[in-house]
Amino acid sequence: MLENDDLQDFMPWTVIAGGSEGVGACFARRLAERGINLVLIARKLAALEELGNSLRLEYGVEVRTHSIDLGMPDAAGHVIAHCADIEVGGLIYNAGAAHGLKPFLEQSLDEYMALMRLNTETQVRLIRHFAVGMCERRRGAIISLGSGASAGGTANLAGYSAAKAYAQVLVEGLWHEFSNFDVKVLCLVLGLTRTPAMARAGFSMESDEFQADDPEVVAQVGLSNIGAGPVYAMDSIRPNIERLSRLPRSEVVNSLSESSTALTVG
Ligand SMILES: NC(=O)c1ccc[n+]([C@@H]2O[C@H](COP(=O)([O-])OP(=O)(O)OC[C@H]3O[C@@H](n4cnc5c(N)ncnc54)[C@H](OP(=O)(O)O)[C@@H]3O)[C@@H](O)[C@H]2O)c1
Repeated sequence: MLENDDLQDFMPWTVIAGGSEGVGACFARRLAERGINLVLIARKLAALEELGNSLRLEYGVEVRTHSIDLGMPDAAGHVIAHCADIEVGGLIYNAGAAHGLKPFLEQSLDEYMALMRLNTETQVRLIRHFAVGMCERRRGAIISLGSGASAGGTANLAGYSAAKAYAQVLVEGLWHEFSNFDVKVLCLVLGLTRTPAMARAGFSMESDEFQADDPEVVAQVGLSNIGAGPVYAMDSIRPNIERLSRLPRSEVVNSLSESSTALTVG
């Protein structure tokens, strides 16, 4: 459960980048039911509005929605302008998945760079902006959604795994720096999770070897472990990460790449 002390960290407003569906929407609902106002960001306005209306109605919180592609240059500037008149105490950076598996040379450079900006530049700019106020007030919480693919280079997901590794290592350093200001920072590392984005991309979630996580459970685990940074891995992926950490790098890369190659996309 999210304790009252931890709840204070997200107040009075929390920004959720990728807050219209899946894990982001589950975080939104859990915070709204505790009275926290929200800024929900995603590309598809209709999904944002639907969720925003339902949270306003059910929990009486204020919800702002902002439709923007966070992979665009200066997406962060637009989000920051949208939040100019509110006190943001929480940032959950959820958007970031690679929708599909592709060899590096078959991916367009534009698509590649947009995924980099989504996971790195936009995330950095938003953390850099919102963390100033959090540190000044000595209250705040930042959750960045990570991936088991960040454990090493991964064939057909090379840019994605590299971007996720960048974000995780950045967040680790900030966890240490911001602890001096009582601001909590967490990279929540996910294994396969049954999100609408994964379903649309056609990823198979059925296997004898693993069980995909439910987004509701992911959000609950994330909020319950906000103080367990710098990195908290879901149970579904933790044994694999621990196993990989003991292997030589070539074996890490081969293991991750065998898994990504075995993933089926519909
Ligand atoms: N699902 C998994 O199996 C899995 C596994 C490991 C790690 N993760 C991590 O968990 C996080 C959530 O993953 P997910 O599967 O739910 O897919 P996702 O596409 O990263 O997240 C979905 C949310 O982000 C929004 N979004 C996606 N791209 C965006 C963009 N360019 N600009 C603005 N908003 C954007 C989506 O709405 P719109 O589409 O309307 O923009 C939606 O609200 C990601 O960081 C991912 O790397 C997921």
